Amino acid sequence: MHRDDALLRAFYSDPPADISLDDIDLSRIPSHVSIIMDGNGRWAQARGLDRSQGHVAGVDSLRETVTTSVRLGLDVLSVYAFSTENWRRPKREVDLLMHLFATTLLKELPLFHQENVRLRFFGDLSALPEKTFKVFQQGLDETAHHTGMTFALAVNYGSRAEITRACAELAREVAQGRLTADAITDELVAEHLYTNGLPDPELLIRTSGELRLSNYLLWQLAYTEFYVTDTLWPDFDRWEMLRAMRAFQRRNRRFGGVVSA
Ligand code: IPE
Ligand code: IPE
Ligand code: MG
Repeated sequence: MHRDDALLRAFYSDPPADISLDDIDLSRIPSHVSIIMDGNGRWAQARGLDRSQGHVAGVDSLRETVTTSVRLGLDVLSVYAFSTENWRRPKREVDLLMHLFATTLLKELPLFHQENVRLRFFGDLSALPEKTFKVFQQGLDETAHHTGMTFALAVNYGSRAEITRACAELAREVAQGRLTADAITDELVAEHLYTNGLPDPELLIRTSGELRLSNYLLWQLAYTEFYVTDTLWPDFDRWEMLRAMRAFQRRNRRFGGVVSA
């Protein structure tokens, strides 16, 4: 992926005491980083605010993280924004989130144009409110020709539903005689997932200290390195991303083999 080192250095000027760009090997930046953005509610509650204000504050972190990811030269940034289970939340909060997705995306389209970012979604968008769905479609259409970083938003996404859907599609193809059961491979299953064509994440970040996947990318995270920070999502910034990169680069990825030199 293309990276402008001058822009990157400027973006990471004035570092805090514990981390700087020099702590990172720029030749070993992961290609795909995925983030479970968690802790908006707790961030707001700790300030005596309504949970919704945590979501509003979280938008700023997401904007900074998109820019950070472009500056670092990622090929793919994906983020978990709304799970299939999040419909269980109070209607007021769900409505606010759906509204926020639509308005934010519209507002940030110029950023995607400026940074050559291509938009993508994981999840069943057909269940979204019409306005949100339309804005998402507009975002897809307007950024389809961009050749820079892919930014994927998981909305109404659940990994079990995704895998079940892939199974159903494959079963249909077999029933129609277009495929035989023996021809079903890992690769073919992967092609029927929302992430089709993208590399698996090399690094998964979860904010707010929770040690679980919450139904996120169960298939794709098979060999991904996990990094959990206690930082709540609205406090996540470019330096937190660098700390995650540093942790990632210190890992020894074995993929079931033996320790490499
Ligand atoms: C993550 O923050 C945002 C969404 C799930 C949409 P939460 O809303 O889950 O915040 P906490 O976990 O309750 O603090
Ligand atoms: C996971 O966070 C979903 C998103 C970040 C969109 P949740 O806050 O919904 O997950 P649980 O309920 O703590 O597992
Ligand atoms: Mg949460």
